[in-house]
Amino acid sequence: KKVAYIASECVPFIKTGGLADVVGTLPKIFDKNEYDVRVIMPNYLCIPNKYREKMQYITHFYMDIGYKNDYVGVMYLEYEGVKVYFIDNEYYFNGFTPYGDVKWDIEKFCYFSKAALSILPSIGFQPDILHCHDWQAGLVPVYLKTLFAGDMFYTSMKSVMTIHNLQFQGKWDIKTIQEYSGLPDYVFTPDKLEIQKDAAMLKGGLVYADKITTVSNTYAKEIQTPYYGEGLDGLLSARWQSLWGIVNGIDYEVWNPATDPQVYKNYSVDNFRQLKKINKIELQKECGLPQDENQFVIGIISRLTDQKGLDLVDRIMNDICCDGVQFIVLGTGDGKYENMFKYYQGIHPAKVSANIYYSDERSHKMYAGCDVMLVPSRFEPCGLTQLMALRYGTVPVVRETGGLADTVEAYNQFEGTGTGFSFANYDAYELLNAINYAKEVYYNNKEAWYGIQERGMRQDYSWYNSANIYKDLYNSL
Ligand code: ADP
Ligand code: GLC
Repeated sequence: KKVAYIASECVPFIKTGGLADVVGTLPKIFDKNEYDVRVIMPNYLCIPNKYREKMQYITHFYMDIGYKNDYVGVMYLEYEGVKVYFIDNEYYFNGFTPYGDVKWDIEKFCYFSKAALSILPSIGFQPDILHCHDWQAGLVPVYLKTLFAGDMFYTSMKSVMTIHNLQFQGKWDIKTIQEYSGLPDYVFTPDKLEIQKDAAMLKGGLVYADKITTVSNTYAKEIQTPYYGEGLDGLLSARWQSLWGIVNGIDYEVWNPATDPQVYKNYSVDNFRQLKKINKIELQKECGLPQDENQFVIGIISRLTDQKGLDLVDRIMNDICCDGVQFIVLGTGDGKYENMFKYYQGIHPAKVSANIYYSDERSHKMYAGCDVMLVPSRFEPCGLTQLMALRYGTVPVVRETGGLADTVEAYNQFEGTGTGFSFANYDAYELLNAINYAKEVYYNNKEAWYGIQERGMRQDYSWYNSANIYKDLYNSL
């Protein structure tokens, strides 16, 4: 089977969140003899030069997008066995970051979705399946069934729309999206792209795709309810038979404490009891905190947005910062949360380290050096942080929602089971209780604590299991 992944992000070229990890890792897993999986993404100017230099020019042409003709260039790079095509257009993709203001992004990704389909004949690739990720590729299934429907080259293609985050829909007024996309009037009705008088690009994908997936079972159920549905719960429950929840994995080659070149001291499930704390002491030094292996070190690695439950953390931060606890945060995002962590660092300088930037290297050092990783999200389609934490023997403390509920099993002191700590309601004191329970076990029952770490490290969240479900999905089309 031939599959094209169409997405706005892909590691190692560009990443702002977990979407990039998924698009950059999953295609590598399929057996090359059975599946030819290639990636199509934008050629952002902010892709590091070391990759841009290696790209090869393939072709260019002009594409009619209704109100104008636009340049479409195709650059190409084979990376770790996966063929990646970069859609080149300096007008759209010249920013310092992949995204800008919403309206501009909408224009950009209308162009991108149409261009992704248009390049296929000229790169000589006729996929059986177009696998579209998030709103940025949401119009691909719509184009496929409308403007491209009469073209023989496309008629047998099927499409899959994967929701990584339902909150972002590419929503703007109908007139603008109609102009930018060049799509016919009849798709801008309430049963198709229209949503509360506006139009949403993701909704188009959800209506027109042959199959819909999202990144965990629990989130697949949650988004059929009004609280999580972002206005699309009706549509999603109407399409429930086509909606699959497939939990994400992570790249077990990259995220491996035994071989990770970015951690201070490599360790494995056999020797983490002795060696993991060396990472803690070095991390404390790097973060400007007192070096003490007995401290209970809490980490957060996150986009700093409302999704991630940071208002709960704000409520209880002064309670968390008591004796024996240190708190390290790594993240960027909303100014209010960036300032909040800087503020707490100011009042608890020996306890809080606020690292308000993006650093892949620091994130590896934190997964290796922290004792627990907090993920108290309001909603979480899958979440990769807790999977990385489990792999490094860092105990997740999570809210029971979406993929967090599916991948972290709560510690049970009577049965000696579980891989982390969790709480159900979106409530700061429930979070505080979960943290205090974890701290209590950490200080007063070391054997139990090691057991939690060890069970976490023995979980298998490599991609192999989930890739098999994707194969079933592709074969069902
Ligand atoms: P989301 O995609 O909603 O941001 P995920 O948990 O799926 O959440 O993925 C987040 C990914 O981004 C993880 O790999 C995490 O380690 C990484 N990450 C988030 N913020 C930073 C940061 N400031 N520096 C480095 N890595 C980060
Ligand atoms: C989104 C979600 C996150 C998920 C990631 C990859 O960014 O917020 O939960 O893990 O996509 O699927």
